[in-house]
Amino acid sequence: MPKSSILIIEDNEDLCQTLADILRKKGNKVRTAFRGEHGLAILRQDIIDLVLLDIKLPDMNGIEILAEIKDKDPDVLVVMITATTDAGPAVDAMKKGAYDYLMKPFELDQLKLVVAKALETQHLKKEVSRLKNQQKDTFPDNELYGDSKPMRELKKLIKIVAATPKTSVLIQGESGTGKELVANAIHNWSARADKALVKINCSAIPENLLESELFGHEKGAFTDAKSLKKGIFEMAHNGTIFLDEISSMQMSIQPKFLRVLETQAFGRIGGTGDIQIDVRIIAATNRNLEDCVEQQSFREDLYYRLKVMVIDIPSLRERKEDIIPLAMLFMGRNNKEFGKEIRGIAPDAAEKMLKYRWPGNVRELKNVIERGVILCTGGELQSEHLPLELQDGISRISTPGDFGNSGSDADSLEEMEKRHIANVLIKYSGNKSKTARMLNISRSTLREKMKNYGIA
Ligand SMILES: Nc1ncnc2c1ncn2[C@@H]1O[C@H](COP(=O)(O)OP(=O)(O)OP(=O)(O)O)[C@@H](O)[C@H]1O
Ligand SMILES: [Mg+2]
Repeated sequence: MPKSSILIIEDNEDLCQTLADILRKKGNKVRTAFRGEHGLAILRQDIIDLVLLDIKLPDMNGIEILAEIKDKDPDVLVVMITATTDAGPAVDAMKKGAYDYLMKPFELDQLKLVVAKALETQHLKKEVSRLKNQQKDTFPDNELYGDSKPMRELKKLIKIVAATPKTSVLIQGESGTGKELVANAIHNWSARADKALVKINCSAIPENLLESELFGHEKGAFTDAKSLKKGIFEMAHNGTIFLDEISSMQMSIQPKFLRVLETQAFGRIGGTGDIQIDVRIIAATNRNLEDCVEQQSFREDLYYRLKVMVIDIPSLRERKEDIIPLAMLFMGRNNKEFGKEIRGIAPDAAEKMLKYRWPGNVRELKNVIERGVILCTGGELQSEHLPLELQDGISRISTPGDFGNSGSDADSLEEMEKRHIANVLIKYSGNKSKTARMLNISRSTLREKMKNYGIA
């Protein structure tokens, strides 16, 4: 515990000196006053953590002094010293804000105990207020950071959409651009904020289960339906439902989903009647739904219904002004997490970060910074702390020769992505978790891509 500063106001000079000696031996900075006025003068000049205050002083009443101390700085702790065996004045002092009291004559151990307890309390108080101040200048974990023009426009749009509590929304953006954060923001900035935000990832749930997850089922609706189950739509009543990776919703469910969007009504599987709900539906996709419509994996009517309100999140490379501020934000968080004190980014490292394509967008940046903070031992993040793909300033995906097959510049992006995924899978002997981590995508996204590209 850091050194504390203690003031003793006590007219018995011998006692005052004895107490001072004991407390100084404990490593505290101690000041003494034999009269009330002198004590108050010290309090005006010095920062004092704890005051030992005699209740009976020649020039002033201890209770008056207590009131003045508390008035000036309520955080100063005061322990009263009383001479009487009558607890009355001591209790009175406690009511007026004293932390504790000692009744003369007291054992030295008793003094030490009371002082130690008071200083511990004082220390905790300071720690809490320090943490509070720190919180103020760090940015909340689950909010959208960034002050680039595209980001400002995005936040403006989110606010407008949030204010219309029934409008359904389609969020489009590449992987890692912050679709989930945008969904959170729409919910949190809306009148539904105190209600549930229920999230479901359409690609993470086996096809045969998605329907009952969404709509629920009656008891006995099918062999495994042992009891009634409420679906997500029902559970999100009055709140918001977030359907992630909407492109993975199988065709057979899509008409039912469209009906919910249009009428806010649905039926449980095996049920007879309709259930009316009040929810906002937010859907998200990192695939181009128009392409899905063309490939006949997504219904055109549903696509047009969802398209009514679209929020497009720009990729990170389209808002380069955000790269360094976001990197600094993540660096601050990682510093705290790993107990480091990295203060900045070296110019050539920053240049590489600005040149890079960031196919995994903000999530990739976050991972790159975390890795860099772990590797960095100095005060600045250097270019050597950045992963290989940033070193040449271009994404690995567009580096021919990095793959088993020869790549030519004429290859389509999809062709390159397919080969890259295949190569990473080979590198990790087909381990999907490791491959997905390496590629900065979720396992379900990887599965989906493998399916689309026909990679076994
Ligand atoms: N503007 C931002 N400010 C702060 N953090 C962000 C921002 N955008 C994204 N992040 C962070 O990046 C990560 C990815 O964000 P999120 O999960 O919302 O992306 P996503 O678009 O849903 O990705 P995916 O398509 O892979 O599901 C999260 O850790 C998120 O906190
Ligand atoms: Mg997501």
